[in-house]
Amino acid sequence: MSDYDFDVLVIGSGPGGYVAAIRAAQLGLKTACAESRETLGGTCLNVGCIPSKALLHSSHLYEEAHSGALAKFGVKIDGASLDLDAMHGQRLKAVKGLTGGIEFLFKKNKVEWLKGRAAFTGKDTVEVAGKTYRAKNIVIATGSSVTPLPGVTVDNEVIVDSTGALELAKVPGHMVVIGGGVIGLELGSVWRRLGAQVTVVEYLDQILPGMDGEVRKEAAKLFKKQGFDIKTSTKVTKVERKGDGAVLTVEPAAGGEAQTIEADVVLVAIGRRPNTDGLALDKAGLVVNQRGQIDIDHDFATAVPGIWAIGDVVPGPMLAHKAEDEGIAVAENIAGLTGIVNHDVIPSVVYTSPEIAGVGLTEEQAKERGEVKVGKFPMLANSRAKTIDDTAGFVKVIADAKSDRVLGVWIVASVAGTMIAQAAQAMEFGATSEDIAYTCHAHPTHPEALKEAAMAVQGLPIHI
Ligand code: FAD
Ligand code: NAI
Repeated sequence: MSDYDFDVLVIGSGPGGYVAAIRAAQLGLKTACAESRETLGGTCLNVGCIPSKALLHSSHLYEEAHSGALAKFGVKIDGASLDLDAMHGQRLKAVKGLTGGIEFLFKKNKVEWLKGRAAFTGKDTVEVAGKTYRAKNIVIATGSSVTPLPGVTVDNEVIVDSTGALELAKVPGHMVVIGGGVIGLELGSVWRRLGAQVTVVEYLDQILPGMDGEVRKEAAKLFKKQGFDIKTSTKVTKVERKGDGAVLTVEPAAGGEAQTIEADVVLVAIGRRPNTDGLALDKAGLVVNQRGQIDIDHDFATAVPGIWAIGDVVPGPMLAHKAEDEGIAVAENIAGLTGIVNHDVIPSVVYTSPEIAGVGLTEEQAKERGEVKVGKFPMLANSRAKTIDDTAGFVKVIADAKSDRVLGVWIVASVAGTMIAQAAQAMEFGATSEDIAYTCHAHPTHPEALKEAAMAVQGLPIHI
């Protein structure tokens, strides 16, 4: 009999960990997953992707019903009102259904849930809730948590992080968001739609770092039009509780005169950092890099044989689908198969209105590498967008000037998150812009705008 309790022990049940555990079990490996939360699914299902998208949907419906925006379609709604408790109820129902679903999948696939916080006691041993388990392979999938802002204490009442911002019991009069990234804009959108005045304070000269420059500009323009007050190149130097609210002191990032801003709620959303505290990595002989991440090779193996790492705790974008794909790949590698993730083709989506999505290189990055051709198509000229009178945004295709191979696609459109999947698939297959331009697209649909942007790379779009 084997000396090991498990072939694979996964630490953390987020999208990386639970997927790795299920795939390992599917491949015939005896698998356990340690999770210290009361429910499975990690940040994404409990306090991230899922509850935020639930609130984004509900708040969008409320804004449409309440603002009179539907009247132009012949739908008149008088006296639409907000039931915030019901909205939170819907959020919790989505979370419960999905986290419970992972528990079901664990049972179905015979993955054992070790309830409690795991810590290494050696290279192949881990302690969970007072018991030590020996595993042939250990996968670290402990994810990430909110980066604190030095000198600012999150109380999750007035000064909140993303988790607190999902659970506010009433709509704040004025919400100040520190950080113009994905969380700030998504959760800022939720509370703005429900009636809050929202100010975003961003340290850099533009919001949405990492995205294509033109997309960042267009996004800022659209958010300002929606009523966001966006203060870029501004740093927060102090946040103090005052009465039922808080006062922020801000000044130009380059230095200059300080100003104060009063807020009912302050959302700190300046990024996330890897979770390695309390794991006792030293007992396994592992160290973290300068950014606190666990370094891995192409196969997700750490420096210690038998220990692997995936998801937010390793370098790369902190996204659920990236973690999931790494979860599948690491399990396949452990089972002796060949698990690969193409990190050049990881889409990212901001679920605001309109949605903002991208995959591959930005125009700026592509130009640094060589000559490019760029094709753009405005949603204003897309028949489906016109039909539903939701014409904000554009599609942009960036292709290599010589080979025509698609290097990046950027989309601002009501359904950009759905449209980007086609671009990712095309890039995964090594498509040229001509391949997309000559693929028959159903009419009238939003993806026709991608086809037209690809035709624009060829210099021959039809509808502009
Ligand atoms: P996590 O999901 O963080 O899971 C790690 C798990 O490990 C946690 O449950 C934790 O309790 C557990 N754990 C940690 N240490 C231990 C230990 N020592 N012992 C036992 N258990 C441990 N990404 C998207 O792609 N799309 C989105 O729409 C999106 N929206 C988001 C919205 C918000 C508000 C936030 C905060 C994040 C969002 N993300 C989104 C990011 C996404 O949640 C993460 O990229 C993803 O959850 C990372 O998965 P993971 O498996 O690496 O880690
Ligand atoms: P972020 O990295 O997206 O944005 C943080 C922003 O804060 C940046 O623009 C940064 O310049 C700014 N900033 C940093 N320090 C600052 C300071 N002191 N003052 C003012 N601004 C400051 O991080 P965010 O929004 O916290 O999200 C964390 C991660 O969670 C994202 O990077 C993403 O990986 C993931 N996420 C993904 C979502 C999605 O896929 N739709 C949704 C929400 C989160």
